[in-house]
Amino acid sequence: MTQKELEQLLGDMTLPEKIGQMTQLMGNFYEDDSSSVLTGPAGDLNISKEQLTYAGSVLSGYGAGELIRMQDAYLKSQPHRIPMLFMRDIIHGMKTIFPIPLAQGASFDPELTEKCAEATAKEAAVSGLHVTFAPMTDLVRDARWGRVMESTGEDPYLNSRMTEAAVRGFQGKDVKEPYRIAACLKHFAGYGAATAGRDYNAVEMGEHTLREYYLPSFQAGIDTGAKLVMTAFHTIDGVPCSVNRHLMKEILRDEMGFEGVLISDFGALGETVTHGYCADGTDAARKSLEAGVDIDMMSSVYPGSLRYLVKEEPEYMEMIDACVMRILQLKNALGLFENPYKDADPEEEKKIILCPSHRELARKASSASFVLLKNDGLLPLSEGKDGKKIAFIGPYVYSRQLNSSWAFTGDSRDCVSLKEAAEEIFPGEQTVYLQGCPMLGAEAAFLSGFGEEAKGALLTVTEEEKRNMLQNAVLAAKQADIVVLALGEHFLQSGEATSRAMIEIPEIQMEMFREIRRVNNRIVVILFNGRPLDLREISREAGAILEVWLPGTEGGHAVVDVLTGRVNPSGRLPMSFPYCVGQVPVFYNELRTGRPKIPGQSERFQSKYLDIPNEPLYPFGFGLSYTEFQISPVELSSQSMTPGGSIEARVTVKNIGHTEGTETLQMYLGDLSASVARPVKELKGFRKVTLSPGESREEEFQISEETLRFVRADGRFVSEPGTFRIWIGNSSQTENCAEFELRMNCRELC
Ligand code: BGC
Repeated sequence: MTQKELEQLLGDMTLPEKIGQMTQLMGNFYEDDSSSVLTGPAGDLNISKEQLTYAGSVLSGYGAGELIRMQDAYLKSQPHRIPMLFMRDIIHGMKTIFPIPLAQGASFDPELTEKCAEATAKEAAVSGLHVTFAPMTDLVRDARWGRVMESTGEDPYLNSRMTEAAVRGFQGKDVKEPYRIAACLKHFAGYGAATAGRDYNAVEMGEHTLREYYLPSFQAGIDTGAKLVMTAFHTIDGVPCSVNRHLMKEILRDEMGFEGVLISDFGALGETVTHGYCADGTDAARKSLEAGVDIDMMSSVYPGSLRYLVKEEPEYMEMIDACVMRILQLKNALGLFENPYKDADPEEEKKIILCPSHRELARKASSASFVLLKNDGLLPLSEGKDGKKIAFIGPYVYSRQLNSSWAFTGDSRDCVSLKEAAEEIFPGEQTVYLQGCPMLGAEAAFLSGFGEEAKGALLTVTEEEKRNMLQNAVLAAKQADIVVLALGEHFLQSGEATSRAMIEIPEIQMEMFREIRRVNNRIVVILFNGRPLDLREISREAGAILEVWLPGTEGGHAVVDVLTGRVNPSGRLPMSFPYCVGQVPVFYNELRTGRPKIPGQSERFQSKYLDIPNEPLYPFGFGLSYTEFQISPVELSSQSMTPGGSIEARVTVKNIGHTEGTETLQMYLGDLSASVARPVKELKGFRKVTLSPGESREEEFQISEETLRFVRADGRFVSEPGTFRIWIGNSSQTENCAEFELRMNCRELC
């Protein structure tokens, strides 16, 4: 449709039709859909038959047949035949589940993420979906917050590149094209900074911090053309985001240039009353409109109160029209007026879902996300040719629950377990497989409200069975040359509403670890988890640690690929692993403080802890390989730069080991003095370099005046003259640096 036609359509619509477009309900409001999963309190919305008929978008539900039927029935009841939008959380895969977003962050490979998002969009589109509530682009620093698994980590630069990649992958160049779906950036804004890491909790954050760290990834997504943005649940400095006019109108729309559809989070408009900010539904409707929220997801604020609001205050009609126009434009951009089913096709669904090429991609993306945290020479394992006996022990040996709590549409029965994959490679007579202990002990009780999915975790094992499991595992470990221990969080221990105050591996698994360690010290730990954990004991006692996150459908194969060295690990941590929970939030790009801790100096009045180091156990950007790389000192093309110019920073990377491998070069910048204190260092570039043994390559990063910009106290994004430091290395703790000056004349300074 042309814009003129859309305007005519809007002019023709009745108020109930308009309010319908601004209302989103769950699929199971239309039929009994037991596969729908409510992600929050649905409440009693008091939706009338008429409101149900007009609601313009649906959350949850999938499957071409079902959604085609729903669309047909819907269109018949629509006076203007405006099609319905089908939206769902397709976060890291539809049926082929790719590694969780935090793991994708660890790959430092935006191109790979783009491919995963593209394959996800394809499976979702043929299943009838039009919009995914992804990517979650919130910056995360607090491992207690369960939703860190949905983010790509603690760094604004990495998050921005990953967000762009995901949006490109979902939407392509034109979302109308076949196999594309619209992306929704969430949650605007600052959701990752929930006080004390407790989900939905208030956020207290200065605007400088918000703009400097939390908004860049949203800006990157908007600039890449993301069609939707979702509001966040929390209050920021006392005002709920969902009705926060300053945040949504002045920052998101006016400053950041977002022109698409703004949707509330699940029930969030109604919760503004619970927050104690809006007096009632009408007040919430007024404030949401003023903030420019176009769609109310699953609350009764818009369907219940908008008509009363405009009756009393007709001037709000103009705002309603603006919201409806944006929604019509989105439907138009997806081509739904011409083809309301878009790509929904039961035949294509059969061919595309879980097709070999998607499985292959999932396997590659998983292994690329694994981070080798420690290796005392135990890895890679030989494939049995050396005659060594391997005992695979732990709850993740058999488990197929390798997806996450955000893979609603995935099915763990499609996953390949570690045992299944290992059996394809290792000779049967040299290997044993044992569970050793249940996944959870006392922690299982905390999952009691988690519905059907938690059943596996809650299965009770008698004390005697537990003893037997452990005894058998210890015996097998004693007889083995090497033990591969597959440990970790239950997949329901991370995700929404899963904050944890103790970020440890479940105690029952640690008890097993200790027993096994007593009889065999050649232990390789494979860690499955959705968040950084406290790994002090494991890192001290295990011979090797491979972080594999929640790796998705092809997880088992990918783990075996890396264990055997068929794939050399190249992932790098996208989030610091704290020394212990008392250090959280801990992140590499912190400010210096006036009394920084100087290594090697023991001064009393320094910014430090008495009992633990300042540094995390494993820092951002860290990860080992089966080979070793040497990075030469940083060389600069010049010691000074002026606006309009640039400096090239060069290093030579050499593979000095015995096997091919990939180094992730990371370029960090530090501004030594500015009108706002600047972080110790900040990531400004990265590159993956694959080299054969003995091979070396010169790599160059370009720095321009734009690279040096930051948010000043007055909110402007500019650079200031002075001395800068540039580091190029293989983690945020690199010391390999050089210095240069940015020079400006008076005119440039103003
Ligand atoms: C989550 C969102 C999600 C929505 C719909 C909410 O509980 O915060 O991220 O998109 O549910 O499922």
